[in-house]
Amino acid sequence: MFAVYLNLLLLLLITTLVHQSVQDNTPDLDHWISKQDTISFQTIHQNINPYGTKRGFFAASLSTYRPDYFYTWTRDAALVARVLTSLNETSDDTLMDYIQFQIDTQSADTRCGCLGEPKFNTDGSSYRGTWGRPQNDGPAERAVTFMLIATRWIDNGYQDTAWIYNHLVPSLVKDLDYIVKVWYQDSFDLWEEVLGTHFYTLMVMRRAMLDSVGFFNSYEKRPVDEYRLTAHLIAKRLEGFWSVEHGYVMATQGIRNGVQKPSGLDVSTLLAANLVASRKDGFFSPGSDKILATVAALEKSFKSLYPINHQQAQNLGTCIGRYPEDIYDGYDTSVGNPWFLATAAFTELYYLAIEEWKQVGVEVNDINQVFFSNIMQIEHGYYAPQSNRLNQLIGATQVAANRFLKTIRFHQANNGSMSEQYDRYIGYMAGARDLTWSHAAFISASRAKSERFIQ
Ligand SMILES: *[C@@H]1O[C@H](CO)[C@@H](O)[C@H](O)[C@H]1NC(C)=O
Ligand SMILES: *[C@@H]1O[C@H](CO)[C@@H](O)[C@H](O)[C@H]1NC(C)=O
Repeated sequence: MFAVYLNLLLLLLITTLVHQSVQDNTPDLDHWISKQDTISFQTIHQNINPYGTKRGFFAASLSTYRPDYFYTWTRDAALVARVLTSLNETSDDTLMDYIQFQIDTQSADTRCGCLGEPKFNTDGSSYRGTWGRPQNDGPAERAVTFMLIATRWIDNGYQDTAWIYNHLVPSLVKDLDYIVKVWYQDSFDLWEEVLGTHFYTLMVMRRAMLDSVGFFNSYEKRPVDEYRLTAHLIAKRLEGFWSVEHGYVMATQGIRNGVQKPSGLDVSTLLAANLVASRKDGFFSPGSDKILATVAALEKSFKSLYPINHQQAQNLGTCIGRYPEDIYDGYDTSVGNPWFLATAAFTELYYLAIEEWKQVGVEVNDINQVFFSNIMQIEHGYYAPQSNRLNQLIGATQVAANRFLKTIRFHQANNGSMSEQYDRYIGYMAGARDLTWSHAAFISASRAKSERFIQ
């Protein structure tokens, strides 16, 4: 047994050295990214409507045993379809199938008896087992994606606008009206473990409300006052998630049930920031000071928590997981691991922040300086767009952003496969194989790097 471990260690050491010597230059990184973009796009498509499933079924993963992820989650499907909508190599048929499947699930018989039912079977019927219900981020993510798809079709002169108005829009309105009705009620979080009020859920709800105001004003006149008011109320509620005491955004308030997470740190806070970046309103956006403070707190926490981060090669970024108290190992409960989508979210956030700074500059202050001090030595004050000082800061932030991509490259399989997690001790992949969301998160990050942002 000891010899096996020794060999493993030697192997790790050798691969680390080899990786280090070839992976530092940018052309090499860009080459890998472009290859991985293609693989991820193909893998996502392998997970859509696999044999024996209803059209428009987006599997969370093809893994059917240990763990069984062969279902479609409203959340995962919406987030993946959102990424696909921004890629012009995505066929309209794929998006049409997604929409039709989702419309059907809205009227499926569910245990929740509500639109927050989290997951559905391969034939489109709802999952009836015990589960955390409702999960009210799902309808919000779906609404956002529906509006993006409708906009893509209307802007591109898609033939069948009548179909959009007669089928897509009524289903969209169901989700929007549901949000108006339930936004202040407790629901389960995106990790399906905690009943309470969640920053992430409220952030995507607010985006759905604001997007709908713009959408209906541009395309189909409908009364939007209620949506505008709801967005306003949600924003007020969201302000309260900032903790002066901790110096970061708390993920959940009023935990009623489920996993206890005393730190309040959760990468979902950053996923939320990335998800709303395209609104460009600076409200808990990637470049905003409170989000940057949360980035720093999360990274610090995972850096000390995961043994793999203690021996990390210089050119790699910190391995990032969901939240420090996590005990889900991808199969069972023991200890939590880093996740690919969480690591990719760091790259994406850094590039989205850079984009924001290019527009409005950066104010380095008491709140965000903990983030900037990890990047380079920097003083408080305002860094104006186009200034040398800001450009220097952007350059250093890009280097830091790329390190997280290198971490992904280092821990994924050689053939471009990415599971859900990678082991906190030795970095080997763990959990559901080729999680669809892992691949969508990679594409999101890669697009942010090339400034072709997912909307
Ligand atoms: C694909 O998108 C890019 C911009 O992201 C655009 O320049 C190009 O024309 C698009 N191609 C097609 C075939 O629509
Ligand atoms: C890719 O590599 C992983 C890990 O080695 C393996 O489990 C998987 O089957 C491979 N996928 C393909 C398509 O070869």
